[in-house]
Amino acid sequence: MVTFVPTSVAFLFGRSIVIEVQLDDAIQRIDEVVSEALRDIQAAATTSEVEQVRVRYTGKKSPFQQVLSIMGRLSAEDRKQLGAAWNAARDSIEAALKQRDASLRSGELAQRLESEQVDITLPGVPQPVGYRHPLLQCVRDLLQILEQMGYAIYEGPEVEWERYNFDLLNTPCWHPARDEQDTFWVREGVVLRTQTSPAQVRYMEAHAPPIRVAVPGFTYRNEAEDPTHADMFYQIEGLAVDVDITLADLKGTLLQVAKRYFGPDSALRFRPHYFPFTEPSAEIDIQCRVCHGVGCRSCDGEGWLELGGSGMVHPSVLEAGGYDPEAVSGFAFGLGPNRYSMMKYGIPDMRLFRENDLRFLREFN
Ligand code: FA5
Repeated sequence: MVTFVPTSVAFLFGRSIVIEVQLDDAIQRIDEVVSEALRDIQAAATTSEVEQVRVRYTGKKSPFQQVLSIMGRLSAEDRKQLGAAWNAARDSIEAALKQRDASLRSGELAQRLESEQVDITLPGVPQPVGYRHPLLQCVRDLLQILEQMGYAIYEGPEVEWERYNFDLLNTPCWHPARDEQDTFWVREGVVLRTQTSPAQVRYMEAHAPPIRVAVPGFTYRNEAEDPTHADMFYQIEGLAVDVDITLADLKGTLLQVAKRYFGPDSALRFRPHYFPFTEPSAEIDIQCRVCHGVGCRSCDGEGWLELGGSGMVHPSVLEAGGYDPEAVSGFAFGLGPNRYSMMKYGIPDMRLFRENDLRFLREFN
């Protein structure tokens, strides 16, 4: 390896000779440094090592800077030669740096892709999806059946005037039937509706006969809860008014609803009853589909479970709705979806509907 002669020593030999020697040495030194740089570039194993090499050979403290420091003392011709040598050296080093950096970069990328590979065949993380509450599902199913039978859907208010909830339904304040529905009073004259029946008069007031309407919604009674009773429960009211409607139409309709909802083997019984707003009146029972009439928890040991109340619309209720009881007749029913749902799915206690126990609710997924 040729050692570069420092300027201070070279001066001892007289200016023109030393400069000549310095130019040859400088060009030779440039070649040497280029070889060293190319070796270091090839030896760099990562892109950050390439960067270090770049700084070492092209930065302010690079060996080239030392060589180039003689430039100011050279003749114009020599300066040109040294400049050309330096330019060529720099170009070859930069080309080598660029090439090495690119090849390492693509290697590193391939390595990263390999190590960070995502296995798209792995099963995903299941996202829980909600589904309908069994009670709401029951309401929708019953309404769908009634719609298919030609019933319109109508909704009345849950906070209701006493007048609509009782008086216009032939149940004035002195009537003993009021005691059967323990009422939540909001204030004087206003109640939480105890039944969906007030919608009968509301609908008749707004629509001329013939009508067929179903009214779903929550109803409220101040009752102790047990397996077959809740203080807040669903009802679906049904009302049909036309010429010549008979009790046979009512029975046929309710049997049809039961068969479509529970299955063709459903057995219903109509038990004579009293409601102030229907005459005659009947309660509808279904043979328990859990014990098939033997008696179990779902039917209170009776073998039958009451599903709803029904009857032929009382003339005074038709009048309250603005209809002529001489010209039209009608039937009405109030179904209890809580009990329909219990029977259909074999649910032993309707309090389960309100507990929001996911183990229970998931069974209806
Ligand atoms: C009535 O509410 C009448 N409005 C039904 C009616 C409508 C009769 C039209 C005639 C004409 P009842 O109180 O029986 O009737 O209730 C009807 C149904 O609602 C019951 O058969 C039962 O399925 C349901 N139900 C009543 N009370 C409760 C309760 N506390 N918890 C759960 N369901 C109930």
